[in-house]
Amino acid sequence: MSRKFNVAVVGATGAVGEELFRILEEQNFPVGELLPLASAKSAGSEIEFNGKRVKVEELTESVFDGRDIDIAFFSAGGSISAKYAKYAVESGAVVIDNTSHFRMDSNVPLVVPEVNPEDIAAWRETGVIANPNCSTIQMVLALKPLLNLYGDIKRVDVSTYQATSGAGKSGMEELVRQMQDFFAFKLDESEHKAFSHQIALNVIPQIDVPIDNGYTKEEMKMTNETTKIMGTNIPVSATCVRVPVLRSHSEAVTVTFANSVKVDLEQARLALNNFENVEVMDNLEQGIYPMPIIATDTDITYVGRVRKDIFQDNILHMWVVADQVRVGAATNAVRIAQKWIELEDI
Ligand code: A2P
Repeated sequence: MSRKFNVAVVGATGAVGEELFRILEEQNFPVGELLPLASAKSAGSEIEFNGKRVKVEELTESVFDGRDIDIAFFSAGGSISAKYAKYAVESGAVVIDNTSHFRMDSNVPLVVPEVNPEDIAAWRETGVIANPNCSTIQMVLALKPLLNLYGDIKRVDVSTYQATSGAGKSGMEELVRQMQDFFAFKLDESEHKAFSHQIALNVIPQIDVPIDNGYTKEEMKMTNETTKIMGTNIPVSATCVRVPVLRSHSEAVTVTFANSVKVDLEQARLALNNFENVEVMDNLEQGIYPMPIIATDTDITYVGRVRKDIFQDNILHMWVVADQVRVGAATNAVRIAQKWIELEDI
């Protein structure tokens, strides 16, 4: 019989946790025991996995003891990972962490399996593998084939159009509730908690807290994480914007190559389309391009509106869309686990 893996999911009742179960099922991931974990308020509730109901338990310091967990997915926020990941590691599990807590730790690999699978090998140093920020994942999936094609990227300028799913279930619920309030003529009274302003019928040019350089923490995540994942210094300047979309992030990305590069659009489209889990959808005349409603519920990063800059031959613009909950979080985490199993030959 082939080897099975005991899996814990911290944040089992959250948007990413729920999607993780779905992806593990779809991928036929060899799950032995499943341990869904959440806060005390969810303990005793049940999740469904492979046709069986499994009880959610409270995350505590000792919950991993004697459970023989092989893989622990953490998706309950940075402070929870900061406090509890070590107990999972001490119990012998590899932690695949979806929060920002470990990402820039130089001993922790930060992995998009299609881009830098080789970095997984360093997992033994801390027992943790970090899942990058959702906006970074879909961007590096589109940058890597272009880096392979043209050898050098001088800089990247990106504006994101990020869905409410990035703020978890409460973010999505807030958008729905505000739309309902709009149709009931009481949007003025509608509360906002997940976002700092009304999100329905609005766009908010701030995600996460300000940094003293005029950028936000979310924007600096894209800058810092891109260089770590790509293994080469790529200056990234980001503007991260929350839009009233339920899930799937979109990004307008401008890539500047070395002065000597003359972008060839057919070559660029081919390189993008041939890259694993990336698909080009690009026919402006026929109104064909990626949109959140196309990417949602898929594991593909879609690229469209690929075009050459009107002023400079070495600049390419593109539009990149992916499901934030899947490609930007749960699917990437499961792909890390699959690669970890493959590379470690476990
Ligand atoms: P709970 O539902 O019990 O609060 P989302 O990102 O969709 O908001 O989900 C956050 C996830 O993190 C939920 O599963 C939530 O569980 C979990 N979580 C929040 N706080 C804690 C905590 N103190 N201990 C364990 N899990 C937590």
